[in-house]
Amino acid sequence: MGFVAAAALDALTDATPVQVEVDDVPVCLVRTGDDVFALHDVCSHQRWSLADGLVIDGGVECSLHGSTFDLTTGAPSSLPATRPVPTFATRVTDGTVEVDVTVATNGAPTPDH
Ligand code: FES
Repeated sequence: MGFVAAAALDALTDATPVQVEVDDVPVCLVRTGDDVFALHDVCSHQRWSLADGLVIDGGVECSLHGSTFDLTTGAPSSLPATRPVPTFATRVTDGTVEVDVTVATNGAPTPDH
């Protein structure tokens, strides 16, 4: 389907994860300045929402067991998670954040929702 509107850029607070649904896929959006990152909002360890976590050192920390997933690569930097979460392309058009969930930019398996 390509890029789909997900949120207003102004509605996103710096370094504060937000969950949105894009084409029925849960997405964790994180704004850092003018950049917006999108990760599949399902922890690869036990299917927990990453949007419930905190942004730390360029990653989002899962609030259940503490694995931190890099905002760019989706890779976990600490256990217990060992697999990356899919990351998605974002763009901002006229103040609206758009996300394309059809392809994971990091090559991780496409989410099954
Ligand atoms: S559910 Fe996320 S680290 Fe366990």
